[in-house]
Amino acid sequence: MKILIVGSGGREHALGWKIAQSDKVEKLFFAPGNAGTCDLGINLPLSASNFKGIKLEVLKNQIDMVLVGPEVPLVEGIHDFFLADKQIKHIPVIGPDKAGAMLEGSKDFAKAFMAKYDIPTARYKTFTAGQALLAVDFMKTLEPPYVLKADGLAAGKGVLIINDLNEATLELEAMLGGKFGSAGNKVVIEEFLSGVELSVFVMSDGKNYKILPEAKDYKRIGEGDTGLNTGGMGAISPVPFANTEFMKKVEEQVVIPTINGLQSEGITYKGFIFIGLINVNHNPMVIEYNVRMGDPETEAVMLRIKSDFVDLLEGVAGNNLNEKNIETDSRNAVTVMMVSGGYPGDYEKGKSITGIENVSESIVFHAGTNLENDKVVTAGGRVLAVSSYGNTMNEALECSYKNAAKIDFEGKYYRKDLGFDL
Ligand code: AMP
Ligand code: GLY
Repeated sequence: MKILIVGSGGREHALGWKIAQSDKVEKLFFAPGNAGTCDLGINLPLSASNFKGIKLEVLKNQIDMVLVGPEVPLVEGIHDFFLADKQIKHIPVIGPDKAGAMLEGSKDFAKAFMAKYDIPTARYKTFTAGQALLAVDFMKTLEPPYVLKADGLAAGKGVLIINDLNEATLELEAMLGGKFGSAGNKVVIEEFLSGVELSVFVMSDGKNYKILPEAKDYKRIGEGDTGLNTGGMGAISPVPFANTEFMKKVEEQVVIPTINGLQSEGITYKGFIFIGLINVNHNPMVIEYNVRMGDPETEAVMLRIKSDFVDLLEGVAGNNLNEKNIETDSRNAVTVMMVSGGYPGDYEKGKSITGIENVSESIVFHAGTNLENDKVVTAGGRVLAVSSYGNTMNEALECSYKNAAKIDFEGKYYRKDLGFDL
């Protein structure tokens, strides 16, 4: 089989790493990929949103399957684009269509879906321009802090958590006034939930589902979960509190009603559902849906899947996921994200990266890297994900930290306290 992976981050490199281990794969392509993915296949210089360009390459290279990494092309309708075109409609796209991608593309849609199908989540209301007074009345019924969410995609920046009612009101007005562009045309205000977060990943063929190993990511830039939010500074899997009893609740209260709800809505959901959960007194509450795998969670989760991943993807494409098995590795897997100095604020790119060849016993996934004159240079805030196995979480973390220390680029930074809260 020839498979195209759309996207360019650590997630896509990790998916490619796992897929390349399958005997079923003849050739891998990435659009656009990064300096790491070209060791696994061919990088096509195409943006993930260039659907016409992707179609031409799919036809030219006789690609048999397209796996979409990030949310933007899904929300923009890459799956629908394939289905609507005679020449490529038979080629399976792993990732939901536009209607399914609304679970991530609109917080208001996701919350209404959860309410309709009795999926546990925070109490909420949605407001539009001109409704600031109503919003303040609603906030007065909640305990601070107030959680304000821009409805649309805002590159992970659309959620604000604010203690003071006046400040929350000003921010709400700014959001409705265009602070996040059209993503803020609607704002969801919800109750604040307190607990430890967990990422649960589900594969769906539209009817059947499989739950992948869970993970926990670390979003803040600073040790002890302090400072600004990032795309994710590392991840661990398994998560100790996600025991059999807790995961049974997740499956019964969240996963099954989600899969059934999508079918009731007439949505044939083929792809990944990433459920962001919070553990509130041993009960799962949904914080958000994403319509893709998590980054950096994928860089840990892929290490824990023993089964042939392409066989699972074929189950998604062929509507027979129920006939497939997911065998997991019982070891712990972690990933430590090495980032550019200054991230998540301003940072410089193009710094040369050295020492990757000295890494032993870890797997280095490239996130934001580029090749310049055959040399690997930084090209993003999140640069490399150093992933390791261990018999315990700490053993795996020690391995990643030891190897991260061997890699150098100007301004490099990584957190050394992952798992501190568990
Ligand atoms: P989201 O984009 O919806 O995942 O929100 C980003 C982050 O904000 C989440 O990962 C949580 O850490 C936090 N968050 C979102 N909603 C809530 C909530 N209702 N209560 C507490 N924290 C929240
Ligand atoms: N790690 C969180 C995300 O991928 O959105």
